[in-house]
Amino acid sequence: MIFKETLVPNPKKIGDFLFLLSEANFRYIYTMNSEKMNIADIRTDYKKGSLDEHEVEKNPFDQFNIWFKEAIRSEIPEVNAMTLATADTNGRPSARMVLLKNYDDKGFVFFTNYESAKSNDLKTNPHAALLLFWEPLERQVRIVGRVEKISPIESFEYFKTRPIDSQLGAWASQQSSEISARSLLEKAFVDMLEKFKNGEIPLPPQWGGYRVIPDEFEFWQGRSNRLHDRVVYRLQDDNSWKIVRLSP
Ligand SMILES: Cc1cc2nc3c(=O)[nH]c(=O)nc-3n(C[C@H](O)[C@H](O)[C@H](O)COP(=O)(O)O)c2cc1C
Repeated sequence: MIFKETLVPNPKKIGDFLFLLSEANFRYIYTMNSEKMNIADIRTDYKKGSLDEHEVEKNPFDQFNIWFKEAIRSEIPEVNAMTLATADTNGRPSARMVLLKNYDDKGFVFFTNYESAKSNDLKTNPHAALLLFWEPLERQVRIVGRVEKISPIESFEYFKTRPIDSQLGAWASQQSSEISARSLLEKAFVDMLEKFKNGEIPLPPQWGGYRVIPDEFEFWQGRSNRLHDRVVYRLQDDNSWKIVRLSP
């Protein structure tokens, strides 16, 4: 935890107890308390990079690989966290964060519960959008495509690498279902601990991976004066990628 008294120009206004907060909470509560707070005034001018549609990789997976590696090198927290947007058959959308656990030229893999709300959307409407935002690099990547379940073998390969508690958690949680008390969840966890105390924990039948198979990528680089660079790749009928620039 970082303590920073100097962040607050007029500490008396806020109260001494705030000095015990972490830097992130400090900034937040200071902003909340400041007379100057006005969300409409929060803005950043992006200046860190540029993206030219003539200089990007011809293949969007290669471009993603370059950007993802740069994001990792930048030590961005939760660098593989991404928004997953799905929609039901009526077009009602929903979005949530998931973790990107693998990618290659076949697609982008995340893991979840196959009975969850997102999975129910995907059963009837197997299309999704992914969004990664790397603030320190002033970049976002948008990916749209068809979604398929990966094989149970592939899911189990990953499942085995998870910490034991996460494996048990996957067994214990009926993700997205209503639950009357947290204690039921904790009991389910303890029950699973007992059930699987000897030997390898099997893959829960309702748990596994999905692969988003992209037909569109957008690479967005923030620029000054809101004149951002947007390079889009669209999959063509002959499986080649068409690259276009979009207006910001
Ligand atoms: C940073 C972050 C990463 C997450 N990663 C996953 C994930 O990889 N898989 C998952 O099922 N839920 C993940 N979650 C929880 C989901 O956001 C969500 O609450 C859960 O999957 C239920 O979503 P649903 O009810 O829309 O299906 C993550 C949440 C956060 C904040």
